[in-house]
Amino acid sequence: MNEQITTMRRPRVVAHRGANDVAPENTLAAVTAAVKIGVDAVEVDVQCTRDGVPVVIHDPTLARTTDVALHRPDRMHDPISTFTYDEVRRLDAGSWRDASFAGEPVPTLEQVLDALRATGVGLLLEIKHPESQPALVAAVAEVLRCFSPGVSVTAQSFHAPALHELGRLLPEVPRGLLVRSAPRHPALEAWASAVNPWHGTVTSAYVRRAQLAGLETYVWTANGRSAILRAADAGVEGIITDRPRRALDMLRNRADVQVSS
Ligand code: G3P
Ligand code: CA
Repeated sequence: MNEQITTMRRPRVVAHRGANDVAPENTLAAVTAAVKIGVDAVEVDVQCTRDGVPVVIHDPTLARTTDVALHRPDRMHDPISTFTYDEVRRLDAGSWRDASFAGEPVPTLEQVLDALRATGVGLLLEIKHPESQPALVAAVAEVLRCFSPGVSVTAQSFHAPALHELGRLLPEVPRGLLVRSAPRHPALEAWASAVNPWHGTVTSAYVRRAQLAGLETYVWTANGRSAILRAADAGVEGIITDRPRRALDMLRNRADVQVSS
């Protein structure tokens, strides 16, 4: 009997907003926790202050994830792009989650790159709300140009024009197009390096079509065991998850050697 041993490569595990299950999302504490867990990459969201500093935060306002209501209740629902960096850096982005994170700041993109450099952990950088922040992509490109050496960075966005602009400014940075559903014809997005759909819409046939078009697939946000396994079985290259330790444990423990005769 001839036995053939096939080694299966596991999908990369990407900690969504950092390891946000153990630390406040999009903070250096969450990035550092993800590195300690041993993820392959960290996903964070980047926006821009009024004076052009790219900062890492998800929502269009500071209300949910900082203590802005304590300091400026009159401005708590104003867009981040109306605050200066000096105003943002004084806010507490940790206490809303747990008192043990009190004083954790909203990090800059530069600080996140510094935290990841020399760790071997990549950065999946979502360009957030670019349609309402005209200076965002150029500001991000400038920081990446100066501070990304030593960190493997991929940009992603739901907003294709932002990715096209980044491609003009920094053609060497891979770009993933975020989509709600796996598109019928991924080849139409062959300008990108990846198409990243919601996990529930991805099948193995889709992943294969994307691969034939030269595209990787990173699904979001797969948290439950069945969703993680389904994505891995479909052959995706990456799984963006709020449960990075769970995903790593599951994927490492899966039989990675198949024996067929
Ligand atoms: O990485 C994809 C995912 O982050 C997109 O959704 O709202 O969490 O930024 P959101
Ligand atoms: Ca995101």
